[in-house]
Amino acid sequence: MKALVTGSAGMLAKDLIPLLIKRDYEVLAPPEYELDITNLTIVKDVVRELVPELIINCAAYTNVDEAEKQEHQALIVNGLGVQNLCTLCQECDIPLVHFSTDYVFDGTKQGPYTIYDKTNPINSYGRSKLLGEKYILWLLSKFYLIRTSWLFGLQGKNFIETMLELGRKQKQVSVVTDQRGCPTWTRHLAEATVDLIETDRYGIYHVTNSEPTTWFDFTKEIFRLSSISTEVLPVTSEQFPRPARRPSNSVLDPFPLKEVIGRRMPSWKEALAEYLSQRKEKAKQ
Ligand SMILES: NC(=O)c1ccc[n+]([C@@H]2O[C@H](COP(=O)([O-])OP(=O)(O)OC[C@H]3O[C@@H](n4cnc5c(N)ncnc54)[C@H](OP(=O)(O)O)[C@@H]3O)[C@@H](O)[C@H]2O)c1
Repeated sequence: MKALVTGSAGMLAKDLIPLLIKRDYEVLAPPEYELDITNLTIVKDVVRELVPELIINCAAYTNVDEAEKQEHQALIVNGLGVQNLCTLCQECDIPLVHFSTDYVFDGTKQGPYTIYDKTNPINSYGRSKLLGEKYILWLLSKFYLIRTSWLFGLQGKNFIETMLELGRKQKQVSVVTDQRGCPTWTRHLAEATVDLIETDRYGIYHVTNSEPTTWFDFTKEIFRLSSISTEVLPVTSEQFPRPARRPSNSVLDPFPLKEVIGRRMPSWKEALAEYLSQRKEKAKQ
C-alpha cells in the first residue's frame, strides 16, 4: 500500500515512517517545503502526482503555549490544513489517518473521556485541533481520527528530555500535581496506528499508553529510572502558570481500541522504561 505521510520531520512521523516501511508500505514522505498542507494547490499537485492509497497526517501546529498568541496560524494549519487533506481524500476516495489531542476536552469530567464525550477545548491549540476533527467528520466517511496525549519520542523535543536536562542541572524541580493524563510513547502509538489501518474499521480512536498519571508522578519515575536524585516538588497549575490553560483531567478511555486491534496498549511505565533504555543505546552509537 502506498502511504503519503505529511509532517515527515515531526516526532511521531519519525517513528511511524520506519515502521510503515518495515510493514511493507511504500512510503512517500515529502519534506514540509515540498508539502505544506496549508496550500491547497500544493496538496493537489503532490497527491495527483504521487497517487497515494492512504494519507497519514503527522503535520500540525503543536506549540500549545505559542498558539495562545497565534490562534489564527494554529487554525490555518490544524484546521484548514486538514480540510485540504480531506478535499483530496474525497477526490481520490482514499482514507485519511489523522492525529488529534486530549486537549479537545475541558478536563472537568470525573473519569476518562470516551470517544463519544462532548468536546470543549479550553485553549487555542485545542480549538484549532477541534476544527481539524470537525472537517474530517463533516467531509469524510473513510478516516481514522486518533486522539492521543502527552507524547514522547526518541526523535523529538519532549517532557522527558526537558526533565532529564533540569535534573542534571538542578537540585530541585517543581512539577504540577493537578493535571492527570496518559503519557504516550510515539513508538507504541505508531504500532497501534499501523495495526488500526490494517483493520479497515474507520472511526474515532483514543490511543495512549495505559494507566493515567500526573506530570509530578511521571517526573518522579523518570528520575528514579535514571538514578537522578533531584527533588521533585509538587505545585499546582495556579502556582505554575503557563500561557495556555491545560485540562486538569485529560485521561482518554481507550474503548474500542482493544476490541478492534485485539490488544491493549502497554502502560506508560513500561513505555518509559523502554524509551530510557533505547535512549541509552542511541547515545552509545
Ligand atoms: N506532542 C504531543 O504531546 C501531542 C499530544 C497530543 C496530540 N498530538 C498530535 O500528534 C501529532 C504529531 O505530533 P508531534 O509531537 O509529532 O508533532 P511535531 O513533532 O511538532 O511534528 C509536526 C510536524 O509538522 C510540521 N508542520 C507544521 N506545519 C506544517 C505544514 N503547514 N505543512 C506540513 N508540515 C507542517 C512541523 O514542522 P515545524 O516543526 O517546522 O513546524 C513538524 O515537523 C499532531 O497532530 C499533534 O497535534 C501531539
